[in-house]
Amino acid sequence: MGVPLKLMPILVSFFVLVIGASQATSRLLHEYDEAAMVEEHEKWMATYGRVYKDDAEKAKRFQIFKKNFEYIESFNKAGTKTYSLSINRFADMTNEEFRARNGYKPFTSSKSASFRYENVTDVPSSLDWREEGAVTPVKNQGDCGCCWAFSAVAATEGVHQLKTGELISLSEQELVDCDTDEDRGCEGGLMDSAFSFIIKNHGLTTESHYPYLGIDGSCSANEEHPPAATIKSYEDVPENNESALLKAVANQPVSVAIDAGGQDFAFYSSGVFTGECGTHLDHGATAVGYGISEDGIKYWLVKNSWGVDWGEDGYIRMQRDIHDVQGLCGIAMNASYPIA
Ligand SMILES: *[C@@H]1O[C@H](CO)[C@@H](O)[C@H](O)[C@H]1NC(C)=O
Ligand SMILES: *[C@@H]1O[C@H](CO)[C@@H](O)[C@H](O)[C@H]1NC(C)=O
Ligand SMILES: *[C@@H]1O[C@H](CO)[C@@H](O)[C@H](O)[C@H]1NC(C)=O
Repeated sequence: MGVPLKLMPILVSFFVLVIGASQATSRLLHEYDEAAMVEEHEKWMATYGRVYKDDAEKAKRFQIFKKNFEYIESFNKAGTKTYSLSINRFADMTNEEFRARNGYKPFTSSKSASFRYENVTDVPSSLDWREEGAVTPVKNQGDCGCCWAFSAVAATEGVHQLKTGELISLSEQELVDCDTDEDRGCEGGLMDSAFSFIIKNHGLTTESHYPYLGIDGSCSANEEHPPAATIKSYEDVPENNESALLKAVANQPVSVAIDAGGQDFAFYSSGVFTGECGTHLDHGATAVGYGISEDGIKYWLVKNSWGVDWGEDGYIRMQRDIHDVQGLCGIAMNASYPIA
């Protein structure tokens, strides 16, 4: 028995529909991609609470988003690197805009010569200061270019914990508002100048006493923010020497300046970061450990201040002991640490 006759027209029209649909699909694929991209952008805007002032701005931002999206997709698809990228809150910025917001700026210059860890020989093969309770949760500097404050605070929190056994989250906003002789709040600064300020100021107050606002504010009266942790001095790690940096990080969390301006750094998501990056130092972060990955790559464990959404829960593992003496992204160029 064949197909009942009365079904024939239905089948015919079904085939017509299928053929028609597949033609439509191939024609629509391109448009669908664009529509899907628009949807991705909308979803991203909702996630990051982004609002644009008008349609023109939105259209412009959409094009940038799309370009970044495609770059990240093709990077991950190629799978040729030891790290992967992901869309994050920088996704609608051009690389120029992203670079411009980094706030490591050496307005002053003085380097200490003494290096107390010079003769250290007992260096474990891996170390994670988080496991020793010397690292507070990852913070988020937002749109304020005060990475220098977050870096100096993380190093100070670390050394304070190592000395006293107490982990206290300290105030970046106090540095942003009050450390204005050499540093410039959201417009940038230097970790060493922040350490100098902390010494002069007889310490820093807690995060909860002087919470982070992410804008340049005026320094409130001293009695409103009693110091909770202090340092005696600070030292610079001998420059361009990753083994000196290792000796320092083996002893405490260390402030590091890096070139974080690259596209891959912006969208880093996981794995051991091996570059692309240069040595134009534009960002302050904190080395809080080191180790060797499962695939045998030595890395620095670096705490960033771009929130927990970025990187590996707010951290990046950066390749260690590279051929260039400056270290990857210049990590060995201008490292320093406070002394409690
Ligand atoms: C390193 O820091 C010093 C100040 O301590 C500064 O003079 C120098 O310009 C910095 N180097 C780079 C490459 O930023
Ligand atoms: C390291 O050892 C040398 C040689 O014994 C000594 O002169 C130097 O002061 C030591 N450095 C530190 C920081 O202890
Ligand atoms: C690097 O630092 C280590 C440790 O302080 C030191 O022994 C070594 O001589 C330095 N290397 C260079 C090339 O300066």
